[in-house]
Amino acid sequence: MCGIVGYTGVQGASPILLEGLKKLEYRGYDSAGIAVINDGVINIAKVTGRIANLCEKTNDGADYPGVTGIGHTRWATHGAPTDTNAHPHLSNDGRFAIVHNGIIENYLSLHDELTSKGYHFESETDTEVIVHLLEMYYKGDIKKAIIKTIARLQGSYALGVLCVDEPGKLYVAREASPLILGVGVGENFFASDVTALVSYTRNAIYLDDGEIAEITPDAINVFDCAMQTISKKITRIVWDIQSAEKGGYDHFMLKEIMEQPRAFKATIAPRIKDNEIVLDETDLSERYLKSINKIVITACGSAYYAGCAAKYTIEKLCRVPVICELASELRYSDPLIDNHTLLIVLSQSGETADTIAAMKECKSRGAKTIAIVNVVGSTIAKLADHALYTWAGPEIAVATTKGYTTQLAVLYLFALYMSKKLGRIEEERYLQLLSSLKSLPKKIQDTIDTNSKIHKIAIKYYDNRSMFFIGRNSDYAVALEGALKMKEISYIHAESYAAGELKHGTIALIEEHRPVVALCYNESVMEKTLSNIVEVKARGAEVLALTYKGNSQIVSQANDVIFVPKSETLFSAVLEIVPLQLLAYYVAKLNGCDIDKPKNLAKSVTVE
Ligand code: F6R
Repeated sequence: MCGIVGYTGVQGASPILLEGLKKLEYRGYDSAGIAVINDGVINIAKVTGRIANLCEKTNDGADYPGVTGIGHTRWATHGAPTDTNAHPHLSNDGRFAIVHNGIIENYLSLHDELTSKGYHFESETDTEVIVHLLEMYYKGDIKKAIIKTIARLQGSYALGVLCVDEPGKLYVAREASPLILGVGVGENFFASDVTALVSYTRNAIYLDDGEIAEITPDAINVFDCAMQTISKKITRIVWDIQSAEKGGYDHFMLKEIMEQPRAFKATIAPRIKDNEIVLDETDLSERYLKSINKIVITACGSAYYAGCAAKYTIEKLCRVPVICELASELRYSDPLIDNHTLLIVLSQSGETADTIAAMKECKSRGAKTIAIVNVVGSTIAKLADHALYTWAGPEIAVATTKGYTTQLAVLYLFALYMSKKLGRIEEERYLQLLSSLKSLPKKIQDTIDTNSKIHKIAIKYYDNRSMFFIGRNSDYAVALEGALKMKEISYIHAESYAAGELKHGTIALIEEHRPVVALCYNESVMEKTLSNIVEVKARGAEVLALTYKGNSQIVSQANDVIFVPKSETLFSAVLEIVPLQLLAYYVAKLNGCDIDKPKNLAKSVTVE
């Protein structure tokens, strides 16, 4: 996710900006840059890749003198990770440079307007419209130009501005993206994250939405769009650097679990316009969708399990067969794929070697490919005919959480979109499902809020060497991911089983006090799963059931019950998985495991 920093004072700005950017590296980024004012000129250095490259390019900042500057780490959204797309961006007249976090949703119309007025665009970013708007509105008063500019922006921004006409000053503005001012002595700072500030100052001002600040080495003036001064409180930062990076959480995994409501919303919201699902990134015409006779979903690990969960939703809504195949199997299977197959590839990193190979194999047989990917410009995104991005932001913990739920978010959108295009859904039902989809971020949050109860349950179950996760139909798909989460971070053997299959073998392993996590959300198979619970209890198992609020029939059967909000079963996987992520997290923590970096695992599996 992008990060921004700014400095004005008496010291060389560049080394301070580079240090600040290094502190933001943990957020994930693909390019970086700084801009510094010196002798009435803005000098900009930008690189693709690591901050180390930027240090090399700038001679650790020494080749970019000046006491006022801004810096940025970019996590590509609009436009590939390239030097040109990296920030800062410069106005055509060289007067302004800006850095920006967030997304400008109306950038296309602004781009057209500015182009027609003669402004020249260097990059493919949404951000660049801002710097040209500043130039357009500047008539000698920077504050006025900023106010006019931000009035034109829709979306989110934390904005840092440099202007050659006021060389010792920084300007910042915020809307729906974090921005913190660091208050020093004879020097001041800004950053998107306290991590970049704590080495220099622990006095911070947290800007709120709609606020703008003018920053000099000796003063910070915060005001609103009516130029009314706002008095702000200085807050003392108490976090140490490490916990600041994790937003105060003990582990990235927990932070990322907590980010799921926001990530899910960020993934669906821009794609729902006036109750229509807009998948602009694809060209899935009605004609094309009618021509396909099957969908093949391929991926590895959790991404594969996201596909397994979405299979139920897509088949139910679209009545098109969906085959989920592990990429490491599909590629060697001489697959039955042709130009009537739509291939959906899921990958958080976009770099998984087996997934890439399976995709190439299927492409060569004529399949159209859609990649659902988190990392912009990754190999899978580039190889696909169309990439649909999950806007989860960087995922640092090795065990995926928000990557999985945002993949489901895109797959749910896709299922609804396709069923409508195929004419397989009534308008009333479509609107009902769309509204249910939009309610999920809040329900994910409500699920997260049961955190302390799950912690207590983890205390009861953590001291076991083996567990079972059972469910039927869509619940079974979630059981697969729940068991994977448990085993990969806690090293407890966790076996997921289709509940109806237990009696064909696995039930032999059920013994006194063996924990069985039973997923009972899907009403169409509820009675059947309940009888499986009775079977394992009869053999001494301790049953932890997971169901929707109000389903009291489980209470008398299970030893413990986790309730999650009621929703459409078609979308329930995202709600069911959250307590299982938390359970795995707390069990691993109680067992003293290295949660963010489990043994033998890597975040991006680039080997076959
Ligand atoms: C498990 C996990 C892995 C990944 C798998 C695919 O928590 O993270 O199973 O899901 O390695 O990775 P991507 O999605 O990057 O292709």
